[in-house]
Amino acid sequence: MKTEYLGLELSSPVIVSSSPYTSTLSHIESCVRAGAGAVVLKSIFEEQIYRQAASLDKMEGYGDAGEYLERYLGDAYKAELLQLVADAAKTGVPVIGSINCVGSGDAWIDYATSMQAAGASALELNIFLLPTDRRASAAEIEQHYADIVRKVCAAVTIPVSVKLPMRLTNVLSTCDTLLARGAKGVVLFNRFFEPDIDIEKLTFQPADPFSQPTELRHVLRSTALCSHALPQLDISVSTGVHDGAAAVKALLCGASAVQLCTAIHKHGYEVIGQIGSFIDEWAARHGFDTLSSFRGRMDYGSSEGEFYQRVQYMKYFPHDAE
Ligand SMILES: Cc1cc2nc3c(=O)[nH]c(=O)nc-3n(C[C@H](O)[C@H](O)[C@H](O)COP(=O)(O)O)c2cc1C
Repeated sequence: MKTEYLGLELSSPVIVSSSPYTSTLSHIESCVRAGAGAVVLKSIFEEQIYRQAASLDKMEGYGDAGEYLERYLGDAYKAELLQLVADAAKTGVPVIGSINCVGSGDAWIDYATSMQAAGASALELNIFLLPTDRRASAAEIEQHYADIVRKVCAAVTIPVSVKLPMRLTNVLSTCDTLLARGAKGVVLFNRFFEPDIDIEKLTFQPADPFSQPTELRHVLRSTALCSHALPQLDISVSTGVHDGAAAVKALLCGASAVQLCTAIHKHGYEVIGQIGSFIDEWAARHGFDTLSSFRGRMDYGSSEGEFYQRVQYMKYFPHDAE
């Protein structure tokens, strides 16, 4: 089933999110063969690489730091990335370049324009500023998001979407600001690396990087609210889309596309086509012949939309507590 996302016509609303599954040409070809409507390339994390490189440089005994720096900081790395964009663009599906912007510098502008020149159909800005300063207000931090988006949108002619973090105080207001700065769409939401603690060894350990299906529910509510408040903004849902039913729910809430990562980890690339077929079969069963005939049908503006406003358990008691 076709969809329109960021002004691009996609053969399927199922796209592959920025992840290891889009980090090489052969992985991207697997996504395309399995029926992906588009691919979002693995993010370029230039600012992070600079910081990491600077700290590695100070570390004694890190024998391969020199090689590491050469690998990631050199022009060769950028050329490799742009070659991937160009090669991926020939696979037949729109390629969305992804930039992880954190710095206030303008290095991103150069990456954005270079990706456009290399053949990217759109850009996804993956922005997250972890608040560690008690004096930085939410408004200040979000202003920084808006500044990045404004600069990138002014520099490119291809559509730009913003992949947002999950815990914003008012996602609608942030989306409204981004729309005013030129964003064409948002991805709800990114899911980040999270540190966990081993309480026996008193050490840190990485939490499971992959999502659980239940994580979709919060995303559905935000999508339903956002799609109703800002119909001009295209939404793609990321986090918790593990099967066809989850994808249909996201589309009913107003998403134009869904993005997969964990589902591919669990089931392989074939899941892309299986979810696409599920959407088609479900739509046929319900008499919908286009995506626009059911997209957003269960958003916040729908007849029972106030359901999304319920956040407290006022009357509910589990049976064993009665
Ligand atoms: C190993 C791994 C690497 C990822 N790398 C990126 C990345 O480079 N850029 C990005 O925007 N998101 C990245 N993500 C986040 C995914 O694109 C996606 O938003 C997240 O996994 C939630 O979707 P899911 O429930 O389908 O897994 C990564 C996720 C995983 C598990």
